[in-house]
Amino acid sequence: MEEKSFILPTYRFLKDSGKVTWKAPSNIALVKYWGKKGVQIPANPSLSFTLDHSATITTLHFSPLAHESSEFSYEFFFEGKEKKDFRPKIDDFLSRIEPYLPFLKHFHFRIETSNSFPHSSGIASSASAFAALSLCFVDMERMMTGSMEEALFNKKASFLARLGSGSACRSIQGPVMHWGNHAEVEGSNDLYAVALPFKIHPVFSSYRDTIMLVDRGQKSVSSTAGHQLMHGHRFAANRFEQAHANISILKEVLGEGNLDKYVEIVESEALSLHAMMMTSIPYYLLMKPNTIAIIQKVWEFRLDTGSHLCFTLDAGANVHLLYPEYEEPQVIPFIESELIEFCEMDGLIKDQVGGGGQKLS
Ligand code: PMV
Repeated sequence: MEEKSFILPTYRFLKDSGKVTWKAPSNIALVKYWGKKGVQIPANPSLSFTLDHSATITTLHFSPLAHESSEFSYEFFFEGKEKKDFRPKIDDFLSRIEPYLPFLKHFHFRIETSNSFPHSSGIASSASAFAALSLCFVDMERMMTGSMEEALFNKKASFLARLGSGSACRSIQGPVMHWGNHAEVEGSNDLYAVALPFKIHPVFSSYRDTIMLVDRGQKSVSSTAGHQLMHGHRFAANRFEQAHANISILKEVLGEGNLDKYVEIVESEALSLHAMMMTSIPYYLLMKPNTIAIIQKVWEFRLDTGSHLCFTLDAGANVHLLYPEYEEPQVIPFIESELIEFCEMDGLIKDQVGGGGQKLS
């Protein structure tokens, strides 16, 4: 599909006010997206688990304007409070999606949004936030077109979410999402994410992700800046090749339920992501001493117990601990007795693999 296939044939705009509410989860990449061209065209394909509890809920209230407005007309509320400082980001997003949603300047919107996880947790909320808002807009468009096939609905929501934040395109559906051209993944493309079109072993359908909140502060280097530093990075070509190769292996591993190989690929991906940060110019570090302490404890635990507990990292210091549901009785006591001390204010979020966006009204 090309970009222009997301511009739907002319339809009549709604005459009445109304609202839609959607919940969209966050996601955790197993094979990392790092480096982009243009507006979130990924330099390499990525693969993620959709999460379940870590989510954004967004209500989009809309009321028709008497005349088309010259600017976007909206108010934005986050956790009940009007947030003017979010407007530049939202204005950018609305400008990017307007070519695909011709009704935007014909309505006044009130966007009310809240997160299920603490705002200050250092957990990326942009993925779930742009996914939830995109689902609301496409749902509104669906009301106007009369009907829209589910496949197109999901593709368009993912396509729009990508224009807000790249990884957001993987938060529309679940449980395992793939984004970016890959020779062995049918239907894969750079414009939107698709559910990985292969058999997934049942062990992964309830996989756990316990997020250790090591650092709730502002990151020293944003993801946007980090992606840019992949331009001209001396290891970029090899890194992009590695991501392609890891997806080829992981799609087999996810089908077979080969947990040893899964652990190896997932941890290697996390460390490769951070290695790119450490070897870019300028170089930087987002891991904290407690990030490393947790990683070392996980390795010791695996050696002692034969567990399949493993870690992955986003572009930050927090650690995602991934493990099969059946290991929970062994892993949770370990986390609570040995790892919690490395988290800020004993913070952790217990999450698991989930199914994607949900309509709430
Ligand atoms: O979507 P962005 O621009 O915030 O980039 C996300 C990048 C990583 O979280 C580090 C990896 C990924 O694929 O989610």
